[in-house]
Amino acid sequence: MKVTVVGGGYVGLTTGVCFSHLGHEVIVVEKIPEKVQMLRDGKSPIYEPGLEELLQEGLRKKRISFTTDLMEGLSFSDVIFICVGTPQNPDGSADLHQVEEVAIQTAKLMDSYKLLVEKSTVPVNTHKLIKKTVKRYMKKNVEFDVASNPEFLREGSAIKDFLEPDRIVIGVESERAKSILEEIYKNFKCPIIFTDPSTAELIKHASNAFLALKISFINMVADLCEKVGADVELVAQGMGYDKRIGKEFLKAGIGWGGSCFPKDVKAFYRIGIDHGVDFSLIKEVERVNERRIDQFIDKVKSAVWSVRGKTLAVWGLSFKPNTDDIREAPSIKIITRLLKEGATVRAYDPKAMENFRRLFPEGKDLSYAPDPYKALEGAQALLILTEWEDFKKADLSRVKELLEVPIIIDGRNIFDPNEMNRLGFEYYCIGRNTTLQKNMY
Ligand code: UGA
Repeated sequence: MKVTVVGGGYVGLTTGVCFSHLGHEVIVVEKIPEKVQMLRDGKSPIYEPGLEELLQEGLRKKRISFTTDLMEGLSFSDVIFICVGTPQNPDGSADLHQVEEVAIQTAKLMDSYKLLVEKSTVPVNTHKLIKKTVKRYMKKNVEFDVASNPEFLREGSAIKDFLEPDRIVIGVESERAKSILEEIYKNFKCPIIFTDPSTAELIKHASNAFLALKISFINMVADLCEKVGADVELVAQGMGYDKRIGKEFLKAGIGWGGSCFPKDVKAFYRIGIDHGVDFSLIKEVERVNERRIDQFIDKVKSAVWSVRGKTLAVWGLSFKPNTDDIREAPSIKIITRLLKEGATVRAYDPKAMENFRRLFPEGKDLSYAPDPYKALEGAQALLILTEWEDFKKADLSRVKELLEVPIIIDGRNIFDPNEMNRLGFEYYCIGRNTTLQKNMY
């Protein structure tokens, strides 16, 4: 089928290359010309495992093209996936002006049937606003549909999540829209849930808010584990075997970040409030998450005593592994605090240093190391902020040798506490105690 994707961000690019991989003919509209040029040259502007390969496959097979011209994109096909950004307004609500723009421009050029499909995360009932806008701006009275088909992909595993999803959610109001989307997704083996558009929109927001809730919950339990000498990793494992709870998203740490959870949790809370529903639970989920940073800084301070004048190595800047994305990454707040309190920070990340450097240029107090070990030389402690696989496989005897003081404060629980003690490290992590610490209870 011919498919138009508007927006060349994480969701749009993944959607575009995956649809072309599945045999559809795709055009992606992206407003930044440099990005379009890169994509036409087969280069992905973001680091996402597998994306560049599928992009190059699509270009080779001539199944994907890119344009900055929205009109060109909209005239290319009758099915338009809206994957534009829906950033946050100052009051926490979603800024939908880019979605509105797609609706207006589609309406203006429409001279035959079009199906507009929301894929970006939008507040419930956005489809009604799109419909109203299209009707308001359309020049010819032609038939059209608006559907909701939310995306559940995670950065770092976006391609796999798209091609092998747990489920596909499609909210439609007409048989015509339903059969078009059925055709587009006909090769998928997972359950496809057909709903009305409002329900589909809500499924996405509720899913992200629930996942954030799960993480905040386990982080709260981790705090208790630290106080009573229990192990949060084992608590999560024990809980996770219960099918009603599930093992996923019970990893305690320094809190959730990224471009989705912080924005979506805020927006979902706003929706509840706007509709007069008591969403205080969601507010708590956010509050627990915000506290993670202070708690981690306290942990660092109790480990190294004063941070002023100390050199601290930091491993991990991206908000999660396998991505170069640093949006709302805990590292931003943690490094800001450490610098403010007089520490010297030497940071390393396998993919996110370039993005981080743009926000925090190198200076007297902050430098970027070419490899993880260089970051350690003479440092008085190592802080782990992202659980990259490379860090898990680190040569720990080298780490110990390079650090001036063998202190590790691990915000992601990547090592075994007792083993670390045995190796001679002072090791602090989240919600777990070493046998030594446990004996103090
Ligand atoms: C999230 C959702 O997982 C996707 O389903 C959704 O499509 C996406 O948002 C979106 O709305 O676009 P993403 O933000 O890419 O995906 O990454 P996640 O893997 O969900 O991680 C989010 C944050 O939670 C990260 O900071 C991660 O470190 C943290 N996290 C995750 C934990 O602290 N503990 C966990 O157990 C899991």
